[in-house]
Amino acid sequence: MNFELKTLSLSAAARHKCDLLAVLIPQDFAGQDGAIGTLAAQALQAGDLQDKPGKLLRLYASPGVAARHLVLVSCGDGSPGDVRKAVLALAPALKSPGVQRAVLAFAAAPAAGAVAAALRSAADAAYVYAATKSKVEESGPESCLLGVPSAAGVQAEFDAARAVAAGVEFAREWANRPANHATPTLLGEAAKSLSKDKAIRCTVRGPEEVAKLGMGAFMAVAQGSVEPLRFIELQYQGAAKGQAPVVLVGKGITFDTGGISLKPAPEMDEMKFDMGGAASVLGVFRALAELKPAINVIGLIPACENMPDGRALKPGDVVTSMSGQTIEVLNTDAEGRLVLCDALTYAARFKPVAIVDIATLTGACVIALGGLRSGLFSTSDELAAQLLGAGDAALDPCWRMPLDDEYGEGLKSNFADVANVGGRPAGAVTAAKFLQRFVGNTPWAHLDIAGTAWKSGTAKGATGRPVGLLLRWLAERAAGSADSGQQTAAARRRAAKG
Ligand code: BES
Ligand code: MN
Ligand code: ZN
Repeated sequence: MNFELKTLSLSAAARHKCDLLAVLIPQDFAGQDGAIGTLAAQALQAGDLQDKPGKLLRLYASPGVAARHLVLVSCGDGSPGDVRKAVLALAPALKSPGVQRAVLAFAAAPAAGAVAAALRSAADAAYVYAATKSKVEESGPESCLLGVPSAAGVQAEFDAARAVAAGVEFAREWANRPANHATPTLLGEAAKSLSKDKAIRCTVRGPEEVAKLGMGAFMAVAQGSVEPLRFIELQYQGAAKGQAPVVLVGKGITFDTGGISLKPAPEMDEMKFDMGGAASVLGVFRALAELKPAINVIGLIPACENMPDGRALKPGDVVTSMSGQTIEVLNTDAEGRLVLCDALTYAARFKPVAIVDIATLTGACVIALGGLRSGLFSTSDELAAQLLGAGDAALDPCWRMPLDDEYGEGLKSNFADVANVGGRPAGAVTAAKFLQRFVGNTPWAHLDIAGTAWKSGTAKGATGRPVGLLLRWLAERAAGSADSGQQTAAARRRAAKG
């Protein structure tokens, strides 16, 4: 969808020809001159438009309004969270047949972050998966104009949100694609396509090169599949070459059957989303290409399938990770940590300021936090606070979980340095404790997105999370390092241009 930003009073919005005009009405709306302002005030007063965010009133061919469909939607206190609820409630209207040109107008000056929330939510609401359908019954509008009382002050927020939305959509799209349409090879090609931008470089390694690197844990997971593994490395350079990067590591299991520790059949199809972490890294790079923040970022994706087979990894097998640590694989379904541990070891090469891994790692995290907040684990209080703040600000929240050493005790093995599973209690924490063994002293955070990367049930599909959180965090880091005088000449020029 194409987004545009324009200064639009309510009376100008009434004159604007389009298929759908949705007007965001705050709870304290006092009325305004003109057809829409009067109508909205009346509807509020009569209780026909309730003032709870997301409540709406649909009208057709209203006198004095050029749009065929008019929707008045309450946006509560006008905060980004309430605006998001309001715009998500517009999903059916946005996807109605014949709605090609939509306008989303703020009846009152938007609060800070509300324009970004509106754009992001409109993109979320209008997204339609189509890649493997022979015909699509519904589609979102071609264009969406955001109307605000005064556009000048929110142009930068709008531009950034548009780039973030493109990144979220990219992640969603790749996570939604079924495993036979999103193989490790195809993920590698998707990553390569991002290097069209000259700030992004991409290297994709196959089985021989990964063997040379000594990634024995990663290779062990891949060995049961006929699909060759891929190790994807993305580099975004937005700051001076010498500036230490942030490394993002995304779990890229393109399908998780559990391996020999086979999963039960019901809902196994959902394990096509087990590359949601990888998809979020791709989405972040898609957006970085447009945002061009003054920061260096590396993206690492170990991608493979986890399959049962005559050659597959067996419970009890001991594998040697790139770090040299041996691992007893007690459960082949705990494969995510096996592919991640080698990527985390590899990450140290870049002498990063921070490593953040993103993984649909444990069912236990779904039980602990559900679909609202991602699980956050970190060895650094500072990093944890940054990520928590970025998540709340981006409406893509996470929640910090503990990493006490005692939680790692269950990972003891009689036959290797470490086992890949502990007991069932605190399963999300023991998984994180396993990963922690591979990050050394680099500030590190782990986001368990098993509950937040996709939705089950009738709304089954990928969410594109936590692309919003990550981009917010990276943008804040870029702004922070610019403050402390570490910015590049290019960034200074950009800043000077405003
Ligand atoms: N990909 C799954 C985690 C998962 C489960 C994500 C359900 C979303 C929904 C992961 O590879 C896995 O199978 N984890 C096991 C670990 C266990 C064997 C210690 C799990 O959570 O059951
Ligand atoms: Mn698994
Ligand atoms: Zn998995």
